[in-house]
Amino acid sequence: MSAPNKSYDPVEVATLKVEYLQGVVADAIAAFIAARTGEDLKDARIAHAGDRSPLSLANREIGALPPAAKAEAGKRVAAARQEINQALADAQERVDVADEARVVQEERVDVTLPMRRRPVGARHPLTTLRDRIADLFIGMGYEVAEGPELENEWFNFDALNIGVDHPARSTADTFYIAPEGSGLVLRTHTSPVQARTMLTQQPPIYVICPGRTYRTDELDATHTPVFGQVEGLVIDRGVTMAHLKGTLDHFATSMFGEGIVTRLRPSFFPFTEPSAEVDLKCFRCKGADSTCRTCGGQGWIEWGGCGMVNPKVLVACGIDTSEFSGFAFGMGLERTLMFRHGVTDMRDIVEGDVRFTSAFGMEV
Ligand code: DAH
Repeated sequence: MSAPNKSYDPVEVATLKVEYLQGVVADAIAAFIAARTGEDLKDARIAHAGDRSPLSLANREIGALPPAAKAEAGKRVAAARQEINQALADAQERVDVADEARVVQEERVDVTLPMRRRPVGARHPLTTLRDRIADLFIGMGYEVAEGPELENEWFNFDALNIGVDHPARSTADTFYIAPEGSGLVLRTHTSPVQARTMLTQQPPIYVICPGRTYRTDELDATHTPVFGQVEGLVIDRGVTMAHLKGTLDHFATSMFGEGIVTRLRPSFFPFTEPSAEVDLKCFRCKGADSTCRTCGGQGWIEWGGCGMVNPKVLVACGIDTSEFSGFAFGMGLERTLMFRHGVTDMRDIVEGDVRFTSAFGMEV
């Protein structure tokens, strides 16, 4: 350490010596050049240009110099600081560019990569249709009725006036449940819900019953052994065919749009008298194309069955026929979906391929 009051010569103070300061500048420049990132450079800046850097320490020594020596020493330190600052600024510019380039590289997105999408689920269009139909009738004051899919033969056939010799009872149509004589079948239609409802509710009755039904059909473009039906039943005073037709027209318009035309074609069902098939005027050719593939050139497409509830059925179900009459109808849900959305193969509806289902979106 220098002795007090000895005349200071800046040359004598080690940290102010030219060579020393040159070394400080060289070290700083080397450190800045070596810095690769903003972080590196920050460390280098603190070490070589910060408050405790050799340069700052040298600067502090100036205060202790005799006035005559201060100017010279101050110039030297200032020159060194300027060199260091310049080098620092250059380095800062360089690492900023490098940092930015690195971020761009790291955060690069290949927009041509296939998306890893999370598939959005969709309700099955049959479910949506079923709910839509229920809502339509609820809006008209109906209630939704339910019955078991594993049904008593009596409800499925006898109560509906389907005699023991009726072909629908044959095992070529009906799934019978073992053991023989169990009296149980997989319901072949939703009509047994009519009987169940009449036996448990007092008229007036306004019910709609969408549900699953079974028949021993092979799966093909127009058949499926498990299918859906929607049954409607009205029992009230003074119910006529006109009410039935008006209800069906409203139902058809709501399913297929304004302008759809229906007709009732005389037919036979054991549980209705009179009975009719409900036909829709072909929505493709409007009856104008004898080669139309949708209606087979007929101009009309069968949608379902209907009629005035047979008094025999009313009696079997405990309804007073002197006071009440009623109508009923039953439509296939798959057929309705096919007409509504132009589905041409029933297998698409039942096979469960999400590509089919998701095309309907999240319709509710
Ligand atoms: N149950 C009949 C079928 O499965 C459809 C049907 C016809 C239902 C006439 C009805 C009706 O309610 O009145 O083919």
